Order: sequence, then structure tokens, then C-alpha cells
Amino acid sequence: MTEIPEHLLKRAAERRAAMAGGDAAATPAGDAAPAAAAASGAAPAAAITPAKTRAPLPTLDAEPVVVKPDIAVVAAAKTRKRVPYWAASVLALLPLWAFIYVSAVQPPPAGENDPLVIGKEVYAGNCQSCHLTNGAGASEGGAGQQLNAGHAITTFKDPLAMVHWIHFGYQDGARADGSYGDPKRPGGAMNTATLPSNMPAFPALSPEELAAVVIYVRTEFGADKYDPKAEQGFTAEAFAAAPTALATEVTAVIALGAGGDPDLSGVARGK
Ligand code: HEC
Repeated sequence: MTEIPEHLLKRAAERRAAMAGGDAAATPAGDAAPAAAAASGAAPAAAITPAKTRAPLPTLDAEPVVVKPDIAVVAAAKTRKRVPYWAASVLALLPLWAFIYVSAVQPPPAGENDPLVIGKEVYAGNCQSCHLTNGAGASEGGAGQQLNAGHAITTFKDPLAMVHWIHFGYQDGARADGSYGDPKRPGGAMNTATLPSNMPAFPALSPEELAAVVIYVRTEFGADKYDPKAEQGFTAEAFAAAPTALATEVTAVIALGAGGDPDLSGVARGK
């Protein structure tokens, strides 16, 4: 026969006492058993033989349900503000946003900063009619002087001197005797009296356009006379990196004013 543990018996006695009379429950635990035994009229020994007294066995149901407090993280999770349901649609649009963002920050199309692309356009619109597409000019029947085969680069060793000439044209860019460019030029100084027509001034070209067309003429028509190291920083690479830096040089050259021998020594160069 299995023994009923002492503490269960004691609890049963207490329960019985509580049912029999109010005060018994209030008595200290130690006195409860005898008090209960007395109240029910049964001998203390009867308590050990449950068959006779049929005291209800304590059940788990009778135990008061103790609600344990949540641990900190669970409590925080229950009280925390939740992500609203509409956020899901916002998240779903994220890839679209990423696509728009990436295409917006893509570098500008090639040519936007390329002086050879800009210069070619400026040349086609302003110079080609006299100097011809290939820059051959008068050597192939054009009204303008020959630029190609390194002709123009030999006349203007310094790119800023060419800038000055194009901006001011034959009237304000040549010397009083009609000569222009490098006087010690191989083949002799050039002169505005040589050809029937004359070089117009181009004050309407922006500093960037002027810089670009000069770089274009020198690199495209310079042939073996073109040496990027001799350009004093006035190169296609410098333009692509910072068009405004070269534009600043152009503005400074224009500020020197008219005359066949502009003093370019005071113009700050990019290099
Ligand atoms: C109306 C015709 C005409 C147009 C347009 C014209 N030029 Fe000229 N250009 C000439 C003539 C003519 C000369 C020779 C100097 C003179 O007689 O005035 C010349 C000379 C030059 C020279 C000096 C070449 C050398 O070695 O002697 C350069 C550089 C030049 N032009 C560049 C340009 C550029 C760049 C443009 C366009 C922005 C342009 N020209 C537009 C007629 C023209």
C-alpha cells in the first residue's frame, strides 16, 4: 500500500477544518490538525485512514492559479508600438526606389564634359564654313587659314594665345602691322593681309565653349606638332576633370583686352 505523504494529510485536515468552522482556518498550521479532528468528531487516528472519513483529496484544480509576471523582454514586446501593416507596402516598393535612385545618380552621358565633343560642336557651328571640316582651310580652297597639319599650333604655341585670337578676331587680335601669333614662327609670322577674307571675333562664345574649341583644334588638327606636355595644363583631361578651372583661365585672358601681344604671364595656369 502506498503511503500518503504527511503534508497532504495535513492539508486535507486543514481543509476539513475550514469547511467545518470558520475559525479553524485562521489557527496556526500546527494547531489545525487537532482542531479539525475535534470538529469532525473523529479521532486523530481516523485521519490516517481516509477510507472512513472520505476527505476530498486535494486536486491541482484547487490550487490558486498564480499568474507569473512576464520577464522583461516579453513585457517590453507586449507594450512596444508595432510596425503598422501599411509599412509592408512601403517595403515592397523599396526595390523600385533603389532602381530610381541608382539611375538618378548615374554619371552624365559621355561627352557632357568632353571638350572634344563640345569643341567639335562649336567648331561645326562657327568655324567649319571657313576652315573646312578637316581644318585644311585655304590649303583646300577654304576662306579661312589652314589649321590642320599643325599649322595653327605652330602659329600659337601657347593655347591661351589662341584663345585670345579667337575671342578678339583679326581686328583686335592682330598687331598694328597685321601680323599675329608667334613672330618667330617657322615659315615667318602670319599676317591678316595674306588671305582675301579675315578672321571674325567670337565674343559670344562662353569661356567653356572657347576652351573646348581651342582644345579640339589643337588635338584634332595639331598632328605631330601636338604635345600635351607643352600645353601648360590646357588639356582635354584637365577640362574633363574641371571645366570651370579652364574657363577661369579663358576669362582672365579675355580680361587682358585687345592687342596682338597679350601678356599671358600673369594668367594663373592649372599646372
Ligand atoms: C569668316 C571666315 C572664318 C571663320 C568663320 C573663322 N575663321 Fe578662323 N580665320 C579666318 C581667316 C581668314 C584667318 C586668317 C587670318 C586673317 O586673315 O584674318 C583665320 C585664322 C584662324 C587661326 C589662325 C591659324 C593660323 O595658323 O594662322 C585660327 C586658330 C582660327 N582662325 C580659328 C578659328 C576658329 C576656332 C573659328 C571658329 C570659332 C574660326 N577660326 C572661324 C577665317 C575664319
